This record gives sequence, structure tokens and C-alpha cells, in this order.
Amino acid sequence: MSITPQQSDLFALLEGRYSVRGFTGQTIEKDLLEEIFQKAQQAPSNCNTQPWQAYVISGERCRRFAKSLAEAVASGAPSKPDFDVTLGFFEEYRQRQVDCAYALYGSMGIERGDKVGRGAAMLRNYDFFGAPHVAFIAMPKSFGIVNALDVGIYLQTLNLVMESHGVSSCIQGALAYYPDLVRKELGLPEDDSMQILCGISFGYEDTSHAANNTRTVRAELAENVAFYE
Ligand SMILES: Cc1cc2nc3c(=O)[nH]c(=O)nc-3n(C[C@H](O)[C@H](O)[C@H](O)COP(=O)(O)O)c2cc1C
Repeated sequence: MSITPQQSDLFALLEGRYSVRGFTGQTIEKDLLEEIFQKAQQAPSNCNTQPWQAYVISGERCRRFAKSLAEAVASGAPSKPDFDVTLGFFEEYRQRQVDCAYALYGSMGIERGDKVGRGAAMLRNYDFFGAPHVAFIAMPKSFGIVNALDVGIYLQTLNLVMESHGVSSCIQGALAYYPDLVRKELGLPEDDSMQILCGISFGYEDTSHAANNTRTVRAELAENVAFYE
């Protein structure tokens, strides 16, 4: 099968992308930052409603917030997500979750039984893995699963646009767990009409960070796709 240059570019992006959990301090220029979020606006959505809302925090303010959020989480701040975050993984899903965790801990040299090491690795989520930028991603509180599909597509679009500019990222469900602290930082009222679904830390990859050696695999096609004729 011949491959067009467009396909080649797309496949390189898809195959070359991985979640990055260690960043240099270098910030992204304002123009590029806006360009990235502008391009991600091309994401399709149900009835073109575009229900995503991104709150982008950059530079010193991002690092200040990371420090205070990580400290709050470490000292036991209560987690009060805006929506039901029950994961409910079972069977093969649970196995993939475990494999993913071992891939990450393995690359960081954290042993299976090392609870302290795992706790510290988990806490890095709230330090935004050292990133100089974080975006919290929200949608209206009254919206449910149908609209969350749109936000998921937006996230992947944003993720790939970043990647195409050499900007690395990690989408983080963990950043949905303390929405009140996020609203406080953003100056939003506690009863704000938006629910915070997740966050995405981003910036330039620190290639020397052990966490960035993590690679994940995907299931065989037949596990996820059934073809009918
Ligand atoms: C919706 C969503 C939530 C995620 N939440 C987290 C998270 O809280 N912390 C984290 O380190 N990685 C998180 N990830 C990254 C996944 O672990 C990662 O995408 C997956 O293991 C596949 O690896 P790859 O992105 O390197 O291909 C999340 C990814 C998605 C799409």
C-alpha cells in the first residue's frame, strides 16, 4: 500500500507521541501558545456546540500553583471532584491499568512493593510533572457523557497539535480531583457553572527524565475492533 506525504506526517505524529512526565523550564512563546489553542478549535463536536473550556496557566504562576497544589494534596486536602470519578476497571481493563503503572514505575526504578515511591510518583501529577504550562479542561456542569465525547476529541486534537509543534504533554485525569483549589486559583466562584474534567500539563520534554522512558503498548486489533460484512 502506498503512503501519501499527508499520511506519512499523520502516522509519524501518532506513532511518535507518548505522554511526557518531565519537562524543561522553557516556556512556550505566547504566539505559539495561542496558535496551538487556535488550531485545536478545529475539533468536531456534536451539533458544533464546542462544549470545551480550557483554562491555561503559564510560567511562574503555573509553577507557584503546582507547588501549592502538590503541598495541599500531600497534606491530605479533601478530594471533591465535580463528577463521578469511579473508574470501575475490571478484567482486561484492570490488567492494562496495572501494566501501564508498572511501565511508568519501572522506568523510574520504583519497585512493585515500594508504596512510598509510588506515592511520590503519584504526587508528581499535582506538580504538573514540572511543566511550565497546565490547562484545566472543563465543560458545563449540566452536560453529561454525550458532551464529554466532544471534550475528549478536543483533547486529542490539542494533544496532536502540540505534538506537531514539538510540544509534549500529559493528559491527567488526576487533575479533576481538587476542582475547588483550581477554581480558587482561577478566581472562579465555588458554585461555578463549569465542571473540571481533567488537566493537561505541557511544555518541552526533559529528555533526561527517567519517567519519559515510559512506553506503553496497545491491544491486538481484534480485542477492540470487530469487522462485519
Ligand atoms: C483521559 C486521560 C487521563 C489520564 N490521566 C493520567 C493521569 O492522571 N496521570 C498520568 O500520569 N497519566 C494520565 N494519562 C496518560 C495515560 O496514562 C497514557 O495516555 C496511557 O498510558 C498511554 O500512554 P501514552 O500516552 O504514552 O501513549 C491519562 C490519559 C488520558 C487520555
